[in-house]
Amino acid sequence: MNKIIRKKHFSEKVYCFEVEAPLIAKSCRPGNFVIVRVDKKSERVPYTIAKADVEKGTLTMVIQEVGLSSTKFCKLNVGDSVIDIVGPLGSASKIEKYGTVICAGGGIGIAAILPILTALKQAGNRVISVLAGRTKDLVIMVDDVKAYSDEVIIMTDDGSWGQKGVVTVGVEQVINREHVDKVIAIGPPMMMKFTSLTAKKYGIPNDVSLNTIMVDGTGMCGACRLTIGGKTKFVCIDGPEFNGDLVDWDEMMNRMGTFKNVEQEEMAHYNEMS
Ligand code: FES
Repeated sequence: MNKIIRKKHFSEKVYCFEVEAPLIAKSCRPGNFVIVRVDKKSERVPYTIAKADVEKGTLTMVIQEVGLSSTKFCKLNVGDSVIDIVGPLGSASKIEKYGTVICAGGGIGIAAILPILTALKQAGNRVISVLAGRTKDLVIMVDDVKAYSDEVIIMTDDGSWGQKGVVTVGVEQVINREHVDKVIAIGPPMMMKFTSLTAKKYGIPNDVSLNTIMVDGTGMCGACRLTIGGKTKFVCIDGPEFNGDLVDWDEMMNRMGTFKNVEQEEMAHYNEMS
């Protein structure tokens, strides 16, 4: 169960894994996510599903080494297994024919936006994808995105690929050039916040997919709670997608850093032991 059948190295700390999970592959929809526990002692970490292959019974996930659990995951190889994968979790994306949609993906957020932009294209939308990363190697899955986009704009902080600049520069270029009906952004919190603010400036409806800390993923523990439009929401069951205009970004950033010290201590301990 949950055996890794493919591993690909994308960049220094980013890996793509294809993992056996036939029941989840059969029932997941764009926007859903899974919670993975790598081994008995690992914490439960939410990961987005980049692709689901119903025939092979597999999920493709892109994992970045950021803490102990993701580092342990990235050290696994083909033939190894993770102890459990729970899902599909969360509410599926609302896929409609909006018209022209900008899909903005930052870093490994590109993997998360891939199934959404694919479904939007299949629903008849004009999809313009703006993909961004600090440097060339961090702009991933571009060929997959191109297959379902009318246009792809690449932005890198250092100018090593596409245009030099942050994601909002590319988003604003499109907005200034043509009518845009919807903006969807997935990536680091700061990237989503400023993409949402850019869309808001032009009065364009925008959604973001929040990546909070999670434990149970079923609305019981409260680890993922956030204030959205002045009301408490649970990202795992009410989201992960929300209207970006309604997100309390300061609270989101604070909560993301809650366990930073503990995570650093655990990571240091792991490095000493290995
Ligand atoms: Fe526990 Fe959402 S992860 S309530």
